[in-house]
Amino acid sequence: MDRWIFPTILLCIPLCLGLLQNQGNQVFEPTNLRIYSNDSLQQLLLEWDVSDDSEAYNSQIDMIFNIQVRLREENEKIILNVNYTTVLNKSRQLHQWGFISEVPLQCATHEARIRSKVMSSEIWSNWSYWVAAEGPDALSDATIHFFPKHKVFERGSKITFCCIARKNQSVSVFIIHNNLKFPEGDRQRALLTLTPESSFPSRIRFGCFFSDSGNLLIATYLYLTRQPVKPQNLSCETEDMINIKCTWDPGYVEKTEYLEKVCPMEFILSDVSSGKIYCSTKFKNTCSFKMGNQFLYNVNLTSRNCLGQKHEQFRFDVNNSGGLSTNS
Ligand SMILES: *[C@@H]1O[C@H](CO)[C@@H](O)[C@H](O)[C@H]1NC(C)=O
Ligand SMILES: *[C@@H]1O[C@H](CO)[C@@H](O)[C@H](O)[C@H]1NC(C)=O
Ligand SMILES: *[C@@H]1O[C@H](CO)[C@@H](O)[C@H](O)[C@H]1NC(C)=O
Ligand SMILES: *[C@@H]1O[C@H](CO)[C@@H](O)[C@H](O)[C@H]1NC(C)=O
Ligand SMILES: *[C@@H]1O[C@H](CO)[C@@H](O)[C@H](O)[C@H]1NC(C)=O
Ligand SMILES: *[C@@H]1O[C@H](CO)[C@@H](O)[C@H](O)[C@H]1NC(C)=O
Ligand SMILES: *[C@@H]1O[C@H](CO)[C@@H](O)[C@H](O)[C@H]1NC(C)=O
Ligand SMILES: *[C@@H]1O[C@H](CO)[C@@H](O)[C@H](O)[C@H]1NC(C)=O
Repeated sequence: MDRWIFPTILLCIPLCLGLLQNQGNQVFEPTNLRIYSNDSLQQLLLEWDVSDDSEAYNSQIDMIFNIQVRLREENEKIILNVNYTTVLNKSRQLHQWGFISEVPLQCATHEARIRSKVMSSEIWSNWSYWVAAEGPDALSDATIHFFPKHKVFERGSKITFCCIARKNQSVSVFIIHNNLKFPEGDRQRALLTLTPESSFPSRIRFGCFFSDSGNLLIATYLYLTRQPVKPQNLSCETEDMINIKCTWDPGYVEKTEYLEKVCPMEFILSDVSSGKIYCSTKFKNTCSFKMGNQFLYNVNLTSRNCLGQKHEQFRFDVNNSGGLSTNS
């Protein structure tokens, strides 16, 4: 046996065990929780530090952060309770976590708090204070408000709408497409959550009547569409060894003049190895490009709109038009 190993093990037993045990009960408290909001994305970003007054760690420690989000004006209802796991080490004490709320941030004050625990331990730190993002309090009460506005939603998803009346006034009716919904009681601020029916067109009207608006509907348009599907039957060929023509079936595309403006479907054909873009098109389902001095091609077709993107790949040999293989 190497003469260094034995003494090292002897030394390590008390030290290492002590360290492990220590780490087992250690609490690394999250401190200085900050909350940032992006209203147009309905997104919250939490940022916090971890107290580093402990001598117990120099290596990496697996941590769980338990995060809760609640809505202050909605009976402090907790809308989210999640565990975020990460690795803690000396060089990384700033942590971030983001979240997109179903509720527009102006409709109800979002508050968040956090606690932590070493993964292998049973002991949670105390909760931090609740930290609030800017909500309806920040809006002027001399005018009416309604959210969301001019936004695109995925069909089938839940949408939370809200209308906020002037001071001492109330929301009397919600209008979603042609449907009326009545809020309970006389509320200055009313929320409504629903999934638009699948029969709704791609542009729907959302608005409210207020107790002081008479017959005047205050409204905006919202848009419904789907994520792109993976393009089907992508194939490429050349007839003259000069131009290569690729065609595909775009699958389902919701085509209305509104969506073409607010959330157009685009197709991008590129080369897998070089990333070179051959075509970028909004409407066509074909693309032609000049053949280079290569014979083997591996192309990547991306279909994308404002809700997402999908890819399809196709490998072909121009000498053997028709293609070698498709892989997804
Ligand atoms: C919110 O996010 C959008 C899209 O990423 C960005 O353009 C905008 O600047 C952000 N707004 C704020 C206030 O950060
Ligand atoms: C978070 O993790 C703890 C400990 O592993 C577990 O008891 C709890 O159920 C988890 N909470 C959520 C919301 O997943
Ligand atoms: C600390 O953690 C970060 C992120 O997990 C990692 O990139 C970095 O290499 C780690 N540093 C050390 C000294 O382990
Ligand atoms: C939580 O706070 C209480 C009172 O402030 C304190 O006595 C306790 O030690 C704290 N617990 C942890 C795990 O920090
Ligand atoms: C709202 O009502 C209160 C009490 O009924 C009244 O004092 C106040 O002037 C009203 N405010 C407005 C803007 O009408
Ligand atoms: C793809 O091509 C096959 C064979 O030509 C055809 O049966 C199928 O319907 C096509 N799929 C689509 C989505 O066009
Ligand atoms: C295809 O292109 C998209 C961007 O348009 C990229 O995100 C994706 O990783 C590419 N896929 C391959 C296999 O190159
Ligand atoms: C394709 O044909 C050309 C000319 O006939 C030849 O030079 C080339 O090696 C062939 N390429 C492949 C990949 O078979």
